[in-house]
Amino acid sequence: MSSSHDTVPTADSKEVAFFNSISDLWWGSKNLLHYFNSLRVPLVRDGLIDTGLVKKKFVNSSKPLEGLRILDVGCGGGILTEDLAALGCAVVGIDLGSDSINIAKSHATLNPSLTNISYFCESVEDHAKHNPEKYDAIVASEVIEHVNEPELFLEHCTKCLKPGGSIFITTFNKTWSSWLLGIIFAEYIWGFIPRGTHTWDKFFDPKDIEVMLEKFNCRTRSVRGVIYNCFTKTWHWWWSSSITYTLQGVKRHE
Ligand SMILES: C[S@@+](CC[C@H](N)C(=O)[O-])C[C@H]1O[C@@H](n2cnc3c(N)ncnc32)[C@H](O)[C@@H]1O
Repeated sequence: MSSSHDTVPTADSKEVAFFNSISDLWWGSKNLLHYFNSLRVPLVRDGLIDTGLVKKKFVNSSKPLEGLRILDVGCGGGILTEDLAALGCAVVGIDLGSDSINIAKSHATLNPSLTNISYFCESVEDHAKHNPEKYDAIVASEVIEHVNEPELFLEHCTKCLKPGGSIFITTFNKTWSSWLLGIIFAEYIWGFIPRGTHTWDKFFDPKDIEVMLEKFNCRTRSVRGVIYNCFTKTWHWWWSSSITYTLQGVKRHE
């Protein structure tokens, strides 16, 4: 069956359709993506502070990312987009799922202070064509394991990044434990991730992402393991990146 995404190389039509079909879950009851903001928002904020992109006068303010621009690629319903925007930056959220983007747009209207978000139903390929080196940060959280041609996906993401800017990725490692805990337990036994969300073949060892980012002139600054405790519904930094991890890459000045 053909779809409107067949001409978008990074789009896996089945994946996009899957997330569209469960788009009522973005803002239904709180899910593990909401809880994950407790780590991924500080990851972006502190990563940008530590690489010198945040103006000193804003560092300890309630809006530390004031003046910065962030692109949230594969933003879904805007769960992370909204919390990043609350830190004062201008955030653009893009996703190929039109239902997800509509939900993200309508949810943002519930908070009148969120005037600094724009959402577009657009591929990163198209966005990169018109917005080269525009952003201080690119965020692709839980997305790379759902795309086709991940290297091309990263190439277009990093095209949008200013030199000195950072790309933040969160994803699953490709290990037996990510298969057992991230798919079998999380999707089929405990059930806190919808069944069929993940395909183990599409997971990455962080080293593979580092190698791909190097091709696009980005050095990996950090790889940090994270783990979800489904009993307390809390995420924690963890010594091992064997299940899920975050990665910050910085685009070199050249
Ligand atoms: C697991 S969700 C993550 C949503 C969001 N980043 C978050 O963490 O709350 C993955 C999202 O990636 C989107 N997606 C998949 N392939 C994509 C692509 N090639 N370009 C843009 N978005 C894509 C899906 O439509 C889906 O909304």
